Amino acid sequence: MVKTLSGSLWRGEKKLKFFFLCFVLFYWAGVTTEAFAKKQGPQPDVKVGERLFYGLIPTGEGSNSCVSCHAMYPADSMNWNPSAIEMAKVAAEMDLATFKEHLLTPTGAMREKVHVKYQLDDEQLFHLQGYLAELSDTGVKEQPISINKLLIFLLLGGLMTLALVDIFFTKKIPYKAVHVLIIIFGISFQLKIVAHEMIDLGRSQDYMPDQPIKFSHKVHAGDNKIDCLYCHSNADEGKSAGLPSAGLCMNCHQVVRNGSNSGQFEIAKVVDAYENNKDIEWVRIHNLPDHVFFSHAQHVNVGKRECQECHGEVENMHILKQENDLSMGWCLDCHKKTNVDFLDNDYYKTFEALHKDLAEGVRDSIQAADIGANDCMKCHH
Ligand code: HEC
Ligand code: HEC
Ligand code: HEC
Ligand code: HEC
Ligand code: HEC
Ligand code: HEC
Repeated sequence: MVKTLSGSLWRGEKKLKFFFLCFVLFYWAGVTTEAFAKKQGPQPDVKVGERLFYGLIPTGEGSNSCVSCHAMYPADSMNWNPSAIEMAKVAAEMDLATFKEHLLTPTGAMREKVHVKYQLDDEQLFHLQGYLAELSDTGVKEQPISINKLLIFLLLGGLMTLALVDIFFTKKIPYKAVHVLIIIFGISFQLKIVAHEMIDLGRSQDYMPDQPIKFSHKVHAGDNKIDCLYCHSNADEGKSAGLPSAGLCMNCHQVVRNGSNSGQFEIAKVVDAYENNKDIEWVRIHNLPDHVFFSHAQHVNVGKRECQECHGEVENMHILKQENDLSMGWCLDCHKKTNVDFLDNDYYKTFEALHKDLAEGVRDSIQAADIGANDCMKCHH
C-alpha cells in the first residue's frame, strides 16, 4: 500500500519534471523568436500608444493628454483644435522624425503654444504614432447599448421587486435595512446606466453637421470686417447668394497661413483644396422647399434689406446657424410690416394708384404686401 503510493508519486514527479522542461524550452523559443521579430522590423504596441494618447501613461510633468484637445467625437465647431480623427490622419502620414518634431520641438505660433512639456522617448513616440495610424484607419467605434448593461439593469429591477415583495408580503428577511439597502443600491445604479445612455443619445440628437473646415463668420465678417458681399457676391444680383470658392479664400490665405484660434491646421485644408482643385463640400444650412420661389436680389438690391434682418447677427457667429424658421408666416409678416422705399425707386413707378394715394395723403407709407408681395403666385410659381 505505502509502496504503490510512493511509486505513483514518483511517476507524478517525473511527469512534472517533463512538463517543466517543455515549458522552459517553449519560453526560450518564444523569447528568441520575439527578439528575432524585433530585428525584422519592430511593431508598435498600439495599446501602449492608446494609453499615452489618453494620458494614462504620464507624457511629461505638466503636460496635457492628447485627447483633452484632440476630441474623439466629431467636435462642435467651437472646439478649434483638430479632432482626434483629423489629427490622426495627418499624423499617420508623417515620418517619425517629423512627428517627434511636432510634439517635442514644435515650430509655428499655435503649435508652440499647445504642444508643450512633452517628455516622450522614441519608443513611446513610435507606439503613439502606431495608435494614431490605427485610429485613422478604423475611425471612432460606435458604442451600441451593450447587452451587459441591459442585463444588469433587468437584474437590478428583479432584485428590487423581490425586496418590495418581501417587505409587504412574504416577510422572510427580518431586517428591514437589507431591503432598503437593496433598493437604494438598485435605483442609484439604474440611474447611472440611464444617465450614460441619455448622454450617448444626446450626442447624436444634437449632432450639428460639422463643416469640412472650421470657417468662422465672427473671425471674418466680425473681427476682420470683411463685407458679406465680398464672399456672397451673387446676393446682390442673383436669386441665390452663393458660396465662395477656394480660389476666393486664397486671395487672402495665400498670405495668411496662421489663424489665432486654429493655428495652421484648418487653413492648410483651404490651401490643399485650392492646390488640388478640390471642392470644399460645405454643408448647406438654409433650404426652402422647391415649390417656393425666393430671390436674394429682390430683397437685397430692390428691397434694400440687410442680410441680418433675415439671417441674424452672422458677424457674431463662430458656427453659422439658421436664425429664422423660413416659414410662410415669417415671409408674409415681414411683407405686411416692411415699408418699401416707394418714391425713390424706379422699380415701383408702375403702381400709379398707390402713388396717387401717397400724394393725396390717403396713406403715408406703402408696405411690401401692398405691391403684391403676398400674392400666392409671387412665391408659388
Ligand atoms: C492644448 C491642446 C493640445 C494638446 C494637449 C495636444 N494638441 Fe496636438 N494640436 C493642437 C492644435 C491646436 C493643433 C493645430 C496646430 C497648428 O496647426 O498650428 C495640433 C496639431 C497636431 C498635429 C498635426 C500637426 C500639423 O502639422 O498640423 C498632430 C500630429 C498632433 N497635434 C498630435 C498631438 C499629440 C500626439 C498629442 C498628445 C501627445 C497632442 N497633439 C496634444 C492642440 C493640442
Ligand atoms: C470670407 C468669406 C465670407 C464672408 C465675408 C461671409 N461669409 Fe457667409 N459663408 C461663407 C462660407 C464659406 C459659408 C459656408 C460655411 C458655413 O456655413 O459657415 C457661408 C455661409 C453663410 C450662410 C449659410 C449658407 C447656408 O448653407 O445656408 C449665410 C446665411 C451667410 N454665410 C451669411 C453671411 C452674412 C450675412 C455675411 C456678412 C455678415 C457673411 N455671410 C460673410 C463665407 C463668407
Ligand atoms: C479678405 C480676406 C480673407 C478671405 C477672403 C478669407 N479669409 Fe480666412 N482669414 C482671414 C483673416 C484676416 C484671418 C484671421 C487670421 C488670424 O487669426 O490672425 C482668417 C482666418 C481664417 C481661419 C482660421 C481662423 C482662426 O481664428 O483660427 C480659417 C479656417 C479661414 N480663415 C478660412 C477661410 C476660408 C475657408 C475662406 C474662404 C471661404 C476664407 N478664410 C477667406 C482673411 C480672409
Ligand atoms: C429677406 C430675407 C433675406 C435676406 C435679406 C437675405 N437672405 Fe440669405 N437667405 C434667405 C432665405 C429665405 C434663404 C434660403 C433660400 C433657399 O433655400 O432657396 C437664404 C439663403 C442664403 C444663403 C445660402 C444659400 C444661397 O442662397 O446660396 C446664403 C449664403 C445667404 N442667404 C446669404 C445672404 C447674404 C450675404 C445676405 C445679405 C447680402 C442675405 N443672405 C440676405 C433670406 C434672406
Ligand atoms: C425682412 C423682411 C422680409 C422677409 C423676411 C421676406 N421678405 Fe420678401 N420682400 C420684402 C420686401 C421689403 C419686399 C419688397 C421688395 C420689392 O419691391 O420687391 C419683398 C418682396 C418679395 C417678393 C417680390 C414681390 C414682387 O413685387 O414681385 C417676393 C416673391 C418675396 N418677397 C418673397 C419672399 C419669401 C418667399 C420670403 C420668405 C422665405 C420673404 N420674401 C421674406 C421683405 C421681406
Ligand atoms: C411671401 C411668399 C409666400 C406667399 C405670398 C405665399 N406663400 Fe405659401 N409658402 C411660402 C413658404 C416659404 C412656404 C414653405 C413653408 C415651410 O416649409 O414651412 C409655403 C408653403 C405653402 C404651403 C404648404 C406646402 C407644404 O409643403 O406644406 C401651401 C399649401 C401654401 N404655401 C399655399 C399658399 C397660398 C394658397 C398662398 C396665397 C394665399 C401662399 N401660399 C402665399 C411662401 C409664400
